[in-house]
Amino acid sequence: EAPMHPLFTREGRKDPHPIYRRLRAEEPITRIVEPYRKIPFRLLTRYADCSEMLRDPRFGKDFTKWSPEERQRLRVSDEFEALGKHMLSADPPDHTRLRSLVAKAFTPQIVEGLRGRIATIAEDLVSAALARDASGMDLVSQFSYPLPVTVIAELLGVPASDQDDFRRWTTVLFTPADTEEQLAHLRATGFAFFQYFMQLIERRRAEPQDDLVSGLVAAEEGGDRLSTQELVGMLFLLLVAGHETTVNLITNGMLALMDHPEQHERLASDPSLLESAVEEMLRYCGPVETTTYRFALEDLEFGGVTIRKNELVVASLLSADHDESRFPDPDRFDVGRKPNKHIAFGYGIHFCLGAPLARLEAAIAVETLLRRLPRMRLAIPREELEPSSMLLLLHAKKRLPIVF
Ligand code: HEM
Repeated sequence: EAPMHPLFTREGRKDPHPIYRRLRAEEPITRIVEPYRKIPFRLLTRYADCSEMLRDPRFGKDFTKWSPEERQRLRVSDEFEALGKHMLSADPPDHTRLRSLVAKAFTPQIVEGLRGRIATIAEDLVSAALARDASGMDLVSQFSYPLPVTVIAELLGVPASDQDDFRRWTTVLFTPADTEEQLAHLRATGFAFFQYFMQLIERRRAEPQDDLVSGLVAAEEGGDRLSTQELVGMLFLLLVAGHETTVNLITNGMLALMDHPEQHERLASDPSLLESAVEEMLRYCGPVETTTYRFALEDLEFGGVTIRKNELVVASLLSADHDESRFPDPDRFDVGRKPNKHIAFGYGIHFCLGAPLARLEAAIAVETLLRRLPRMRLAIPREELEPSSMLLLLHAKKRLPIVF
């Protein structure tokens, strides 16, 4: 049995950059086995390879085209199969159809209309934290999490009061499950999500509202554009993608500012840098490490390597965005960096649908925190910060205790 790859060790999860640097230099396309469910895959670590693979139609995401053995190996339950029927696991033409059903709800112009509401949520969260404890807080649970989850919940039309459930369920999705007990827990979570969305759909069917869920239910009732399974998958994707990532962008970004007091100072004294600062947070500490998997639809050559049909291939966006051949001095955090063509939102047809929303939320969050808590700093030693998940998928911290 292969030893655990260093990327999966506790040290590797806390700071993967030295490992990625070596991989980019020595084995830019490497073989790794995910240690929990023993899933073998190829990991791409260079910018050029990652961006190339993400727009190469010889790699697909639709698991119904995958080999039955591979599908069986990753299978968790019927509910997860239903939840997984969404645009991020579809190839054209299904992908095009599913994405076009919601694309107009996420354009920069529409999203800009949410600015006032997002700013109010951000202000209220800081005020509530100050009222609770005027000396400090855990930034993750009291600010970074509730902000995007409230926004996406309001947009979809699901009660924000259910956010504790989402939080609990989503955490399970990013927890390694290799024992029977953990797998049972994962299945129960899939069931809870599935039931939740089915009930929500029934409620909107009976009584449509002015929200995204009602709009999608109407499309499903039309029959030809969206099946019931696809509707459930869509809600699951929007809810999970719509908050889990943004939480970690806000947290990682604020941590980067606290790690670099001169950049913190520079941004605080020049608000015109806000936009480029958010881009640099996405590049330097983007929250999506490797949720970006594809499998080969045929035997093929890629980057000088032969890849067999059905092999899994994963792009490390975090590594790509620290590629020294693409970004001068990549480990330097520079809130004014330009140009900054990072791929933290992916690339190609699956480029993040929520990017305008995520950018707006992060800009408002950072601006609000800098203004209201200008002396924010870490409340515990840097080394004590724990990664939020031992899976390679997200680059995130469990908690971020700060003092004001
Ligand atoms: C896709 C990152 C926030 C919705 C993606 C992908 C990445 C990404 C890397 C592509 C994955 C792949 O190609 O395999 C991020 C980051 C975010 C963020 C870093 C925040 C900082 C959001 C938000 C939404 C959202 C707020 C809200 C709706 C989606 C959807 C897709 C997607 C629907 C699938 C698009 C498709 O398959 O065509 N995101 N995301 N994301 N994201 Fe985001």
